[in-house]
Amino acid sequence: MCGIVGYIGEREKREFLLDGLRELEYRGYDSAGIAVLHQGEINYFKASGKLDNLIEKTKDFRSINFGLGIAHTRWATHGKPTEINAHPHWGEFSFLIHNGIIENYMEIKKELQSDGVVFLSQTDSEVIVHLFEKFVRLNFTPKDAFKKTIESLKGAFAVLLISKVSPETIFFAKNAVPLIIGKNSQNEIFFGSSDAPLIGFADEVSYLEDGSFGWASKEEIEIFKDDTKIVPIFKLLNSSKIYAQKDGFRFFMEKEIYEQSTVTSETLMGRIKDDKVYLEELSGYDFSDIDEIKICACGTSYHAALTSSYLFERISKIRCSVEIASEFRYKEPLMDKKTLFLVISQSGETADTLQALKMAKKAGLKTLCICNVDNSSIVRISDATILTRAGIEKGVASTKAFATQVLTLWLLSLYVAKKRDKLDKKMCETEMKALRSIPSVLKVDEEIHEKLHRLSKRYLHGHGFFFIGRDIFFPLALEGALKLKEISYLHAEGYPAGEMKHGPIALADSTLFTIALMPQTMLYDKTKSNVEELSARDATILAISPKEFTLADDFIKTQSYEHPMSEFFEMMVITQLLALEISIRLGNDVDMPRNLAKSVTVE
Ligand code: F6R
Repeated sequence: MCGIVGYIGEREKREFLLDGLRELEYRGYDSAGIAVLHQGEINYFKASGKLDNLIEKTKDFRSINFGLGIAHTRWATHGKPTEINAHPHWGEFSFLIHNGIIENYMEIKKELQSDGVVFLSQTDSEVIVHLFEKFVRLNFTPKDAFKKTIESLKGAFAVLLISKVSPETIFFAKNAVPLIIGKNSQNEIFFGSSDAPLIGFADEVSYLEDGSFGWASKEEIEIFKDDTKIVPIFKLLNSSKIYAQKDGFRFFMEKEIYEQSTVTSETLMGRIKDDKVYLEELSGYDFSDIDEIKICACGTSYHAALTSSYLFERISKIRCSVEIASEFRYKEPLMDKKTLFLVISQSGETADTLQALKMAKKAGLKTLCICNVDNSSIVRISDATILTRAGIEKGVASTKAFATQVLTLWLLSLYVAKKRDKLDKKMCETEMKALRSIPSVLKVDEEIHEKLHRLSKRYLHGHGFFFIGRDIFFPLALEGALKLKEISYLHAEGYPAGEMKHGPIALADSTLFTIALMPQTMLYDKTKSNVEELSARDATILAISPKEFTLADDFIKTQSYEHPMSEFFEMMVITQLLALEISIRLGNDVDMPRNLAKSVTVE
C-alpha cells in the first residue's frame, strides 16, 4: 500500500503535496518523494524513511504560478525501502508515481533492457515510465503512448505520470487500488489515494473505476474505460478530515474489516500463477533438510500460527508445532537444526517474538518471518521474510493483519507441499481455486452486517461467551473470543467444541452465550452434537453455519462454500463484525480499547 497525491494549478505546490502526503502516511512511510513540473522544467526530491526527511530536503523549494505536482509515500513491495527505490521514478523526460503491484513487470523490464534501457531501481513501477517514453519515441502522441502503456500492464495500479512532452497534463490510471480525482471552482485539479488530502481544497470528487485511465489539464478531464470515453460522476466532498480518513466508516477497525477483500488480493498478487505458488522471497531457501516447522507468535498472530499448523500437517505433510512466544522464551526449549523456525508478527516489533527469534538464530536454526512491516526489527533479523501486505492497521484490535497472515501461511503451506512433492494435481487445482476466491469471500455482506447490528443488542450482558469450533475453526474461535474481549471488555473464551464436556459445560445456563462455528466442510456432525449438549443445558446459542440449525436461539446463515478455508474467512468476518457491533453498543472506544497498545515492545 502506498499513498498518492497530485495537483494541477497555481497554488504553491510543495506545501500542498507534503500536507497531502502527511494525510496518507498511514498507507506507508518507508520513503517518500515529489516531482513538480513548472515552466517546462521538472524538479524532484526523494528521501528514505519518514516524511519528515523529505520535508527537510525540500525546505528551500517553492513552486508558485501554474504547474503540476505529483507526490508519493511508499510501502515497499518490490525492492528495499531505499532512496533510489522511492517514487517518483523517471526516464529521460517523464516522471511517475505508482501504488500497487505490476505482475508482468519482469517481462516488460527484460524487453526494455534489450532495447538498451537502464533501470535505476529494483521496483516494478519503474517499467511504466520507460514504457511510456518508448511509445513516445515511436512517435505515438503522449495520450496514445499513455494508453498503450496502461494496456500493457497486468496487476494493480494507481498511476500518475507527468512529462515534458505534455507539460500541462497529468496522465492517470486506476485498477484495483484507489484513486480519486477532485476539482474546484478555481479550475484546480487534485488527485489522492483517499479523499483526506483533498479536503478543504476540492469541492467535488470522483472515485475512479477499476480499469479507467485518462488525462487531466486545466482545460479538461478525459476519462476512458474499455476504449469508451466515460462521463465521471462527481460528488460533493465531505469537509470532515477524520470522516475522510475513515472513508466514512465509524471506526478504523470497521474500515479495516471492509478492506480485507482488497488487501488479501494484494497479498496474493504475483504469488500465484498457472496453479503454482511463487514466493520469490524464498528462492534459494532449501527445504530438503527441514523435517519440522516450529512457529512462535503472540495474540492474534499466534491464532494465525495455530490455524496454519493444521495446514502444514494436512497439506505439506510436515510436523508443525506452535508456541506462544512469551512461554517459549523461558522453557529452555530443545532446538533442532532440522527445524524451520517461523515467527509471525504484524508489527515486527513484539518483544517476546523478537526474543524467541533471536534464540532460534543463536541455536543455528533456519529462520523465516511473516510480517506486515518491512524493515522492522523482526524482518531485519530473520533469514527471510514474507510480507503480508495488509497496509497499516490503525485499529488496535487486529483484523486485516490476521486475514493476510492466514492467507500467507496457507500460500506457504502449499509452497512447502510442492517443494516436498506432496501436492497432487487435483489437490493443487482445488486449493488454487479456493485461494483465488478469498478476496471475494471477504467482501462484507451488508445484510449480514445489518443482522449482526440488530442481534448485538441481545449480547451485552450475561456471564460470558464461549466461541467454539473444531479443527481450523478452533483457532478461529480463539480469535473471535479475543476480538470480543479486547473491544467489549466482556469475558469471552475460545474452546475446541469437543472439549466443552470436559469441564466448561458446567458454566452453561441461559446467560452463557455460545457462538458456535458450524462449517459444513469440517466435522459438521461432531460440532453439531457438541452444540446440542450446550443447548440441552439451556445455553444461549448463536450458530453460524450454512446449514439451518433449529436449536439455535440466533442464526447467521453463511454461504454454501465447498472449501473449509472459504468458510473460515467468511466466519472470520462475522465474528469481527459481531465484536464491533457489541462494542459500539456498549459505547466503547473501538479503535483504542483500554489497557492495550498497537505494538507491544515490552515483555
Ligand atoms: C489483538 C492483537 C494482539 C497482537 C499481538 C502480537 O488484536 O493485535 O494480540 O496480535 O500483540 O502483535 P504482533 O502481531 O505485532 O507481533
